[in-house]
Amino acid sequence: MKKALLIGLVLVFASIAKAQGFFKPEKMIETGVYYYPEAWNPDQWDRDFKKMADMGFEFTHMAEFAWAQIEPSEGQFDFKWLDKAVELAAKHNLKVIMCTSSATPPVWLTRKYPEILIELQSGQTADHGTRTHGSFSSPKYREMITKMVSAMAKHYSTDKRIWGWQIDNEPSHYGAYDYSPAAQVSFRNWLKNKYKTIDNLNTAWGTTFWSGVYSDFSQIDIPNKSRLNSGPASTTSLVDYKRFFADECASFISSQYNTIRENVSKSQFVTTNFMHIHTDVDPWRSKDLDFISYTMYPVAGYSKGVGDQGFRLGDPWRISWANDFFRPLKGITGVMELQPGQVNWGKYNPLPYPGVIHAWLWNAFAGGLDFICSYRFRQPLAGGEQFHYGMVGTDGVTELFGGQEYSQFMKEIRDLRKLYKPNATIPAEYAARKTAVLFNPDNIWDTEVLPQTYQWNELDHIIRYYAALKSLCIPVDIIGEDKDLSAYPVVVAPAYQLVDKNLVAKWRKYVENGGQLVLTCRTGLKDRNSHFFEAPWADAIAELIGAKVTMFDEMDADTKANVSFDGGKYTWNNWGDILVPFSGTETWATYADQFYAGKASVVHRRLEKGSVTYVGTHTENGKLEKEVLKKVFATVGITTNEQPEGVMVNWRDGFWVAINYSSTKVRINIPGNAKVIFGSKDLDIAGVVVWQ
Ligand code: GAL
Repeated sequence: MKKALLIGLVLVFASIAKAQGFFKPEKMIETGVYYYPEAWNPDQWDRDFKKMADMGFEFTHMAEFAWAQIEPSEGQFDFKWLDKAVELAAKHNLKVIMCTSSATPPVWLTRKYPEILIELQSGQTADHGTRTHGSFSSPKYREMITKMVSAMAKHYSTDKRIWGWQIDNEPSHYGAYDYSPAAQVSFRNWLKNKYKTIDNLNTAWGTTFWSGVYSDFSQIDIPNKSRLNSGPASTTSLVDYKRFFADECASFISSQYNTIRENVSKSQFVTTNFMHIHTDVDPWRSKDLDFISYTMYPVAGYSKGVGDQGFRLGDPWRISWANDFFRPLKGITGVMELQPGQVNWGKYNPLPYPGVIHAWLWNAFAGGLDFICSYRFRQPLAGGEQFHYGMVGTDGVTELFGGQEYSQFMKEIRDLRKLYKPNATIPAEYAARKTAVLFNPDNIWDTEVLPQTYQWNELDHIIRYYAALKSLCIPVDIIGEDKDLSAYPVVVAPAYQLVDKNLVAKWRKYVENGGQLVLTCRTGLKDRNSHFFEAPWADAIAELIGAKVTMFDEMDADTKANVSFDGGKYTWNNWGDILVPFSGTETWATYADQFYAGKASVVHRRLEKGSVTYVGTHTENGKLEKEVLKKVFATVGITTNEQPEGVMVNWRDGFWVAINYSSTKVRINIPGNAKVIFGSKDLDIAGVVVWQ
């Protein structure tokens, strides 16, 4: 295992190298900003690009929502204005990310071809005057996009000023599912392709329940929850619809990718920007792109963060999660939109804490990103995003606080480049803790359809393990189950409800060869069709974890039950698996009350060269889960480096970066022989320290 592990670790870190040549390793990270030339007086473009360059930006981003200007009437393309903007950007040494505008079909298109519009859950058809209202499934919409995108790609095919392309924007329909006739046809075709016969579909969907049986694919409509008055007869039908929707989104993106790739030079990259935790779509399905990037708004009234100012700082795990989720796919990623200041679309939109935008930028750097693009340069004067900050304010020239923090970061990066060493080696102790978190959106979709308790949120469950790992200064990759696990000393598969024999065998082999596997509650209950196994409860993993899951319990949020672990008590009420260990399996934690007091909640066993730990309880605040992870690492002799709450420490390209997301000042440990480049070990709120 040791040798394989070493080779694996080298491969994992080597994959971070910029193999494709779009990015220069010695630049480490490049920073840019969105610009919408169509929204501003052309007389101001030169001034605006100059200001961007003076602030330190190295690229800009345009044409994202400009279909109406690019194709003012069907088949008539106008690139003159865009050429002018590209020329002025280049004059100020700004590279350009060009976008495909497909998220905003012009009114002539929607009026002439209304069949391109999505149909909402209510049965209403979406209308012009918004965005993302075109159906991924509409052949007409795709045809019109192909025409527009190929015209753009041909126009800029060998243009050296174009650095790369962004397809669409945050592909998703923002949580609206599409029930249009085009989507119905496409869904039925998807089902035919998957199941071949209606009998297979009936078996997979379990349609003997509530007389749900179908005799022909044409009878199947997209399951629309608002029409299923007593709940769905088949939960699998809903999971399948979610899979279909994610596939449809990926194929929509692929078709644009192919159009661009056929027409532009190899040196121009092609990507898209997914929202970082939006599970209606699945970014990993877009593997054919050169890489995928993400969008990030840490402070918009939805997060309490750590301490009383946490709502202004954002969650400590959030940017790291996005880095570790998007980077492993191709070893390359970037943040295509990063919050510039206050936004306008949250429930409320607090001022970010002074300095925190600078801290987010460093967090993006620390996660191995190749570029950061701020959303947006100028604060809009009109439109649905009034009140949304830019780098400069409503007068178009005054740098706002976010702009100043960007400038500071870009200056620091320029200084840091002078210290860049091409072959900096990963500190061995850090590499030795590399952990994989396994992720499959099926588990999210399945538990969304049938959560079993109102408190269950699969993503929160996964993130609590991820956040605990990161607080221990552990490098993490979030990966799919198809990936080679041997490169990771530790693998965590949280609430992995859907499994099959091959996956369980793969986990076993990983452990037998020396890996440390952590599984958590709700794992191994169902097959890929989301049916329970015809076997004792959780039988699929019983042998592996060395215990039986005899029962599981859920309670109301007001009930405070407890688990005892290493002398501490941990409150829970969301989910608890009640375990009976086999001989040879250690009980690490037990239930402290309820009628099953004394029964096991966490078990651990050695298996050949490795170990398996099963955490059966989801606690109130995740502290038990973190303590168990610490014990797993300690038991097998892998060091960790626990940080004060809210502090994130990462290593990249020879540099350590620590960021304080907590609401109090903290002191962190920096080795005496380290060279501090920016900041100090006494970290202010939103403070950053970088050392070598
Ligand atoms: C993003 C979106 C942008 C813009 C931004 C405002 O989610 O991709 O187009 O709307 O939000 O914060």
